Amino acid sequence: MKILAIESSCDETAAAVIENGTIILSNVVVSQVDIFAVYGGVIPEVAARSHLEAILPVIHKALDDARLTVDDVDCVAVTHTPGLLGSLLIGTLTARMLAILWKKPLYAVHHLKSHIYANWLGDGEVPQFPLLALVVSGGHTQIIYMRDHNQFEIIGSTRDDAVGECFDKVAKILGLPYPGGPAISKKALQGDAKKCKLPHPKIDGLDFSFSGLKTAVLRAVQQECGLPITTPSYELAGHLSEQQKADFAAAFQETVSDILLEKLEMALAEYPEVRSIVLAGGVSANQVLSRKALERFRSEGLKVYFPDLQFAGDNAAMVGAAAYFEILKGVEPTDPYKLNIAPRTPIQ
Ligand code: KG4
Ligand code: ZN
Repeated sequence: MKILAIESSCDETAAAVIENGTIILSNVVVSQVDIFAVYGGVIPEVAARSHLEAILPVIHKALDDARLTVDDVDCVAVTHTPGLLGSLLIGTLTARMLAILWKKPLYAVHHLKSHIYANWLGDGEVPQFPLLALVVSGGHTQIIYMRDHNQFEIIGSTRDDAVGECFDKVAKILGLPYPGGPAISKKALQGDAKKCKLPHPKIDGLDFSFSGLKTAVLRAVQQECGLPITTPSYELAGHLSEQQKADFAAAFQETVSDILLEKLEMALAEYPEVRSIVLAGGVSANQVLSRKALERFRSEGLKVYFPDLQFAGDNAAMVGAAAYFEILKGVEPTDPYKLNIAPRTPIQ
């Protein structure tokens, strides 16, 4: 089965053709990151306009790269939630139009399911059930228990900021560019994580909190620079040397990884039958997080999976994978005349 998949939930316009859920026939991603690096973050209206310009050429290229025509495609899949309203609208309206014109079934896919299913792409070993997925993206931080394909139980969530958002905010304090995750990782290579001790949030159970950690970095930087706590965050980077920035970046990255993995370990104690740990979402590209996850859980006899780097951030190949496993589980197509976007629906 060949699925033409479309993704436009945030600031990447993407299309891919995926065969039988794992084989990547094409994968096209046009990122708006250069536009938003200038502003230091995503501007939803600008993102929607950029999607509008890019989406048809991106879909054409996905078909061309796969050397396929419309007739070879079995169905269309598209991200319909969660995401930025205007961005989701462009992807879903395009997919609805194509499904109607081409007379193909249309599948509406949850973005976080897609991030999890990025781990099924390619010809490597795939995760075994039951599993725990740590979903870490710009908008979400969740631990999800999966007994089988397409069964999702959220067992832990952030109570405030998402971890990716925290990377982006801390990067701003340190004067590093948007998106903050890759910038912090790069800077941290020259840093010494032991130069700064950051606190772990005290949240009971499997939930997370990252807003306090962001403030802890802010206070630590103000203290390091000998400035009062009233000093605005945007003034701080100018007082830091490149080495100090690198040390804070390294300390932050280590602390975040430890916080995430501690909660995952607690979740494992509650679900001892789990066979695989799956990292998913943009932050799963973080090498310190994935290395620590491997070290921590391999010794417990578990298999640890994280997506190939090209599939960690937003892309449409993962949408094709998620749609395929939904179809296998008997999920019905969506009426293309009725599909609505749903900016904040939880995974289910
Ligand atoms: O999954 P994603 O591409 O988009 C959303 O669905 O939100 O995640 C984007 C987030 C951003 O906050 C970005 O800073 C973060 O993923 N990110 C990283 C890394 N690469 C991207 N965070 C930490 N380390 C990275 N290497
Ligand atoms: Zn995403």
